[in-house]
Amino acid sequence: CRTAGFLDCHPFPHLLIRNFIQSDSFTENLQRELLDLNFHEKSNDLYKFNQSDDLKKRKEPHITGLRAALFGLFRSWLGEVLGIELEPIVDVSCAKYQYTDVLLCHDDELEGRRVAFILYLVPPWESSDGGTLDLFSTDDHFQPHSVVKSLVPSWNTLILFEVSPVSFHQVAEVLSEDKCRLSLSGWFHGPSLERPPRHIELPFPRSPHLPRDETLLLEWVNPLYLDVDYQSQVQQEFEDSSEIQLKNFLKEEKFKEVSEALRLTDVQWTKQGPPNRRCYEVASLESFPQCVSACWELLCSEAFFLLLSNFTGLRLHYLSPSDEDEEEEKDQEDEEEGEATGSSGDTPSPSTPVCVGELRRWAHGDYTLLHDGDASKAEYALDLLLPLSCPGWQTEFGGFTSYIANEEDEELLMVYPEENSLALVYRDKETLKFVKHINHRSSTLPIGDSCRRAVYDFSFVYYE
Ligand SMILES: *[C@@H]1O[C@H](CO)[C@@H](O)[C@H](O)[C@H]1NC(C)=O
Ligand SMILES: *[C@@H]1O[C@H](CO)[C@@H](O)[C@H](O)[C@H]1NC(C)=O
Repeated sequence: CRTAGFLDCHPFPHLLIRNFIQSDSFTENLQRELLDLNFHEKSNDLYKFNQSDDLKKRKEPHITGLRAALFGLFRSWLGEVLGIELEPIVDVSCAKYQYTDVLLCHDDELEGRRVAFILYLVPPWESSDGGTLDLFSTDDHFQPHSVVKSLVPSWNTLILFEVSPVSFHQVAEVLSEDKCRLSLSGWFHGPSLERPPRHIELPFPRSPHLPRDETLLLEWVNPLYLDVDYQSQVQQEFEDSSEIQLKNFLKEEKFKEVSEALRLTDVQWTKQGPPNRRCYEVASLESFPQCVSACWELLCSEAFFLLLSNFTGLRLHYLSPSDEDEEEEKDQEDEEEGEATGSSGDTPSPSTPVCVGELRRWAHGDYTLLHDGDASKAEYALDLLLPLSCPGWQTEFGGFTSYIANEEDEELLMVYPEENSLALVYRDKETLKFVKHINHRSSTLPIGDSCRRAVYDFSFVYYE
């Protein structure tokens, strides 16, 4: 173990101290003071919980006392044990996790953070209540792999761990409907550990359209959307707001056929990771039932690229009308990127519209996260989402796609899974998206043949 003094080094150095505060009455008073604070709901891609007002300035006697002890004597002792200089920077807050609250997989690395601490002030707690502090193992690329240790919170226990490029952890979703997981947490600051170069994921290969003509549209798409006048209405609305939802998009019987095939046949699903990026399942193309393949083909077809051009005014086919000013811009960007590659041998030229897609299954516990690397890779794109969702899915379950403005953390748009409703969203380079963690409330759905408490969706991205 590299860091002497830490009790346990697997999967990364951490230490658990029971009965951290000696006086029971002090601990109880501290809890009372904390519960009396104002709490604010915090929610984004990574977490949902309530955080207190800043503890740095609070004057309550027990909060003040603990703060002084932690960042005074205790910090000096810890620094000596670890053999590092910990700075007297006070960095502490109070968090309240209740039913369905969660903090997903991350490594805590931020300039200066060296040792993380959490003091639990919780009622008697079982692992079945959720809310455990889960530690992840890492792979060869320093990416989190799987949970190898779960620490169950307990009253007056302090946990410390070293912040490093491999200190991936999460607070598992709280499953108890009545217990409150109150904790005080923060960081001791010091010289950061060296960080290995960030792992770069390979982009998914993009493909140009499949040569399929309009008979495919006639077969699959609600005739309303093939009406040219209606298409220009759609386009007007899309150009105004950069997004649109087209309800009952597939013909009723086609939609039912595909939905049923997904639920009833043995499609092969594979969990996607790493957990600091995503957690959901993807179907392998080879295992698609025939009608699902046909639907996939529809979304990749030349006729569909033309239809999307009509809906959006984007140039997804060389036959679609072009806007000259836009064209110049686009050409320039295409040259800069210049890495659009097809999956097969024939590499399309940079100006050939391409797409990439997935058939996904979402269930309790699934999510996607934003990543530092995402912002730099963001590009103009048209997102398509066609949910074949579980009937009765509710917004409070999570599972919606949230679009946010990079830097500002401002929510721009949320797309809720709605059966057979085709969502189109045009993204610019400042826009990022994530799928909100699906929480335990989704488990209240009845389970049966018609519903596996899962949402299925086709997710495609089209590039001009
Ligand atoms: C969390 O904070 C919000 C207000 O920001 C409040 O409405 C809600 O009741 C709080 N929840 C808990 C469990 O304290
Ligand atoms: C797109 O619109 C053009 C005319 O506006 C029309 O001729 C064509 O059929 C439409 N394409 C599709 C796929 O609906």
